[in-house]
Amino acid sequence: MQMGSRTNPRGLKGSQMDKSFGNSDEAIGSYVYKLLGPEDQVLEAARKEGAAAGMPAIQVGGLDGRHLEVFAAMSRAQKVVEIGTLAGYSGICLLRGMNPSGHLYTFEWSPLHAQVALRNFKMAGVENRVTLYVGEALERLPQIESEGPFDLVFIDADKGNYPAYLEWAEKNLRSGGVVVGDNTFAFGRIAQEPPREDAPSVMALRKFNAMLAESPRWRTTIFPTGEGLTVGVKR
Ligand code: SAH
Ligand code: DHB
Ligand code: MG
Repeated sequence: MQMGSRTNPRGLKGSQMDKSFGNSDEAIGSYVYKLLGPEDQVLEAARKEGAAAGMPAIQVGGLDGRHLEVFAAMSRAQKVVEIGTLAGYSGICLLRGMNPSGHLYTFEWSPLHAQVALRNFKMAGVENRVTLYVGEALERLPQIESEGPFDLVFIDADKGNYPAYLEWAEKNLRSGGVVVGDNTFAFGRIAQEPPREDAPSVMALRKFNAMLAESPRWRTTIFPTGEGLTVGVKR
């Protein structure tokens, strides 16, 4: 195939840009899903418990859950912080990637979500390896600072606070530690021009990505998942 002169669907020319970002072939998507089978009975039950409690179904997808598990394993994480617990789906994935002595510190604003998450952590048999903090994450995070430094911080709560969560992560991760942010394509609006100044969460997510891209303290990539998964390593 001729690579140099092709124009990809985004109208970008040049041999590097021609290699597409992400993959929109549904057959390949279902091949990977069937191959990896990322959602077992425990994760399926956790997801259904959340739905049954009337919570929004905004947990990570099965394959993103697998990404989280593998990131935790790759970074040999012993101490992981999660901001935004929901029903515990992504937390169970993160715990699976840690070795059995690993611990998850997870933060959730909603008492209802926290209650369902605790049930799900018990159902998954990981309740002894999790501490759940209920309240505004930015107010509660200082409570765990003395237990740091941490190996991985997964940010998945209110999008407007992503830059503040990143500042916390930069101070409290070990060097070589990993920060992961979900939804960093801002539900499709991250590249929208002109930027929607009236959409504060889009501007905050742009700032989050830019901080990770431009700071000499980080080396960063973005996994082109449907939602956008930004991953930075602290130098
Ligand atoms: N990580 C979860 C999904 C999280 S959804 C998973 O993939 O399974 C986002 C969660 O963040 C919601 O449960 C919401 O209640 C919580 N949240 C929103 N703002 C918050 C805040 N300021 N502090 C703590 N939690 C917050
Ligand atoms: C929403 C939040 C998320 O973290 C997500 O992955 C999907 C949707 C939301 O607030 O709508
Ligand atoms: Mg998310």
